[in-house]
Amino acid sequence: MIDGKLSGEVYYPSEEVISNANIKDWDALNKAATDDYEGFWSNEADNLHWFLKWDKVLDDSEKPFYKWFTGGKTNIAHNCLDVHINTHRKNKLALIWEGENGDHSTMSYFRLYKETCKFANILRSLGVTKGDRVTIYMGRIPEIVIAMLACARIGAIHSVVYGGFSVESLHERIEDSQSKVLIVSDGAYQRGKIIPLKNIADEALQRAGIVEHVLVVKRTGQEVYMESGRDMWYHELMNLPIANYNNKCEVMDSEDPLFILYTSGTTGKPKAILHTHGGYMVGTYTTMKYVFDIKDSDRYWCAADPGWITGHSYIVYAPLLNGATSFMYEGAHTYPYPNRWWQIVEKYGINILYMAPTAIRGLMRFGDAWANRHDLSSLRLLGSVGEPINPEAWRWLYKVIGREKCPIMDTWWQTETGMFIITPMPCVPLKPGSGTKPFPGIEADILDEEGKPVKTGEEGYLVLKTPWPAMVRTIYNDPQRLVEQYWSRFPGVYMTGDSARRDEDGYYWIIGRVDDVIKVSGYRLGTAEIESALVSHPAVAEAAAIGIPHELKGNAIHAFVILRQGFARSEKLIEELKLHIGHEVGPIAKPEKIEFMDTLPKTRSGKIMRRVLKAKELGLDPGNISTLEE
Ligand code: WTA
Repeated sequence: MIDGKLSGEVYYPSEEVISNANIKDWDALNKAATDDYEGFWSNEADNLHWFLKWDKVLDDSEKPFYKWFTGGKTNIAHNCLDVHINTHRKNKLALIWEGENGDHSTMSYFRLYKETCKFANILRSLGVTKGDRVTIYMGRIPEIVIAMLACARIGAIHSVVYGGFSVESLHERIEDSQSKVLIVSDGAYQRGKIIPLKNIADEALQRAGIVEHVLVVKRTGQEVYMESGRDMWYHELMNLPIANYNNKCEVMDSEDPLFILYTSGTTGKPKAILHTHGGYMVGTYTTMKYVFDIKDSDRYWCAADPGWITGHSYIVYAPLLNGATSFMYEGAHTYPYPNRWWQIVEKYGINILYMAPTAIRGLMRFGDAWANRHDLSSLRLLGSVGEPINPEAWRWLYKVIGREKCPIMDTWWQTETGMFIITPMPCVPLKPGSGTKPFPGIEADILDEEGKPVKTGEEGYLVLKTPWPAMVRTIYNDPQRLVEQYWSRFPGVYMTGDSARRDEDGYYWIIGRVDDVIKVSGYRLGTAEIESALVSHPAVAEAAAIGIPHELKGNAIHAFVILRQGFARSEKLIEELKLHIGHEVGPIAKPEKIEFMDTLPKTRSGKIMRRVLKAKELGLDPGNISTLEE
């Protein structure tokens, strides 16, 4: 525990929370990890199964391309499943699932293991081997977990594309990863409607000709087009003799790729963040154990989508590595009524609930009565991720949902970090809106323009100074970009892209992105993606997108558009452009507002000055505009 009086609004953990926590003394753990960083991670790695033990914990000979547990042989899927089925966990529920329409199912560790083996055999029979890329595009259903684990099991690299993305986003990701296999569901239920995932995939596949096999999971049951020779039903394949239960797990090197996940960066196209079997496994396993304080009897619910890093790390891998029981819900949090989540907590007796601030704000809006109707006493721990949580939402969550007895783990991390980086543990005193301190042994800092640490309370660039096991290994197809994007601004330290400040107690407060990434409802989007979707419309000559603070979504997108000659400004065209973005990128990328312009503010070298547009929108001083062209 952190001793002494802390400044500001502080919530100290109760005796009960501390006495039940896996870690009771954060300072001691932090000291141990700081004194012997490699030893700390090595001890954690020892809790997992290795076919062959590593030679070196951390290899920094080619930094910033750090390597972890080099020489070690393992497989993360083996650690998620095989290791549990000869223990008391064999019959334990690995997954509990509820569909938006009320369908539900459960799967024991034994069954998830068997289903994964079967599907792994199907993938192998289609010629998928170690190192091949497989794109997965599905809603929140158990088959997405099976698909990811089956890939990992045979050493294929999965590339999950969020089901809320649309045609061009999917196409771009299939093309860049050169996936020969696509696993998709016919549709997904969202807000009582069906998102036609297979139709969207068909259109994307017309633009990308490399996919040889499309495996279709039946979820929504509407009629879909099945191309003969290319498309096959998952349930039919799973009934073939080839889909037997015997599957030999691929022995992977620690540093062999596990998955790529596309995420938006500062410029240009989304980049494929690559994570590996060894370090990612150790990092996610350990952080889940300490931060969520996971117990064998817990029912844990991460309400994110598997298509984002939060889902990869803390729906799929970390809970299974810890032998936990995970709950997954398919649909919208307010469907059919704003009590859906609270109904689920009560019905399934959820103990740990991990969610995004945007959902909390959205539910808070409906008042306390919806939550008060339900018995939420099973909850013992809450978590928040994706964007800064405003203190008002924090307090609501703490009082109304957690009944002042559930600590809130505000976890700051990124697709690139793979695991929690700035985060409390249950024994740590909390301040609403702060993720507290870096995970034991990890050193963060806040730097000014020159790379010097800022003073207490001042805003600056958030950087990380220590490598960590689950760190991004490379950008698939573009390793140089890893160096440029993260390790060049301040040599030798990892640039997060966020701004932050640190208070007198050493607590970190995240302010937001300092680059061209916009967080909309916690979803990460790049201005470049929105702009190139706009420019792909025949009426648009040039476009700029910015994020503007929004009460519910955190940020909303505003776009500025210069039309081509011969196109007239109209409300109808604005609606058409919004639909176009929805169709190309996905509904989450639809701008709240589109404004027609004659010119866009640019530097003399032709770069759009989004900061000037933003200042104008917010009625603020645009700052230094000496480089403005006109
Ligand atoms: C933001 C999501 C404040 C931040 C796991 C980061 C947060 C970006 C928090 C990464 C938090 C994430 N408090 N901001 N607890 N968690 N962020 O890659 O701007 O989708 O850089 O990973 O989300 O987004 P990503």
